[in-house]
Amino acid sequence: MNKKDKKMGKIIDFKTKVEEETLEEIADVIRRDGLVVFPTETVYGIGANALSPIAIKKIYEAKGRPQDNPMIVHISDFDMLRSLTKKVNATQERLMKLFWPGPLTIIFEKMEEISPIVTGGLETIAIRMPSNEIAERIIAKAALPIAAPSANLSGKPSGTNIEDIKGELIDRVDLIVDGGDAHIGLESTVVKIVEDKVKILRPGKVTREELVARGFKLVEENSVLGKDEAPESPGMKYRHYAPKARAYLVDHPSRERRLETIKKMVMEEMGKCKKVCIIGCLENQDAFQEITCEYISYGSYKDLEVISHNIFSCLRKADLENVDLILIEGVETLGLGGAIMNRLIKAAEKVIRE
Ligand code: TXA
Ligand code: MG
Repeated sequence: MNKKDKKMGKIIDFKTKVEEETLEEIADVIRRDGLVVFPTETVYGIGANALSPIAIKKIYEAKGRPQDNPMIVHISDFDMLRSLTKKVNATQERLMKLFWPGPLTIIFEKMEEISPIVTGGLETIAIRMPSNEIAERIIAKAALPIAAPSANLSGKPSGTNIEDIKGELIDRVDLIVDGGDAHIGLESTVVKIVEDKVKILRPGKVTREELVARGFKLVEENSVLGKDEAPESPGMKYRHYAPKARAYLVDHPSRERRLETIKKMVMEEMGKCKKVCIIGCLENQDAFQEITCEYISYGSYKDLEVISHNIFSCLRKADLENVDLILIEGVETLGLGGAIMNRLIKAAEKVIRE
């Protein structure tokens, strides 16, 4: 982004009340091809008119995002869906009925009129109906589908609260709508339908276990843990969420074992006069009290919802500590743990499984 393009975004406080008049102002910015950061139940998004190639180009520029990485288009009603895709199959119908509005993005065949710049040149389009009230009201007021990637610079952890977002994006967007901390904290589950089966391209709050429990057949995949990246979701091939310091993920089914490995590694690094920061569970915090290293707790290992809520801001906090190494304690991969580990594997340079 050139210096001359820099602007100073205005912050709108919708934490306690959504003002009708201000909603109109936000909708107007969208209609005029501006950029608006807004909250959703998953993470914040940088939104712009999905039907305007000019507006979409601005999103790519503001994020520094590669242009082959397509956007998710956010809608507030089914008329909007019909303007974006002409074909909806029975499995997609069922998914929408069960999970919309909510944290599930579904890939559809795109309508010809939709500019390839939104879809990164793909013939398909990712669509989601968010459940966050502010998001829903902004889209409805603009009466336009809104393309919105997560609110962060490309490669950084997704923005889940205003403080983190302001620092990164204030001079790159027109408006930032503050709706408080994002409730879930991890981006939506992205799925595509293969015949009548559901293929998870990006794990999220809607878990594979939940889909199976609801009677969906799944395409079995390793990609959930990032071992076998899914190029079908172009965003998955890029390194994400990466802190500036070296970051290692310590992954072992036993919590005691994880603790032991982390302790051993901290001692080794400190022996070399290196500064270390640990991101781990609340329960392990005490074990490091005597040791001079930073400890950032993501919450109890027993509560994956809390961990998902906190994890991106923990990665950002660790980034602010001037350390040589960040050690991240992994979580169990069941349920929401699969999505959390997917993000942590992408953040880390190396996964240690011993
Ligand atoms: O929760 C979320 O999904 C947030 C909020 C703002 O809604 N948005 C978000 O957007 O995470 P973004 O751009 O950071 O991630 C979109 C993901 C990328 O991995 C992208 O490659 C994938 O969706 N995607 C978009 N269109 C696709 C398509 N047509 N086929 C396959 N994957 C697609
Ligand atoms: Mg993103």
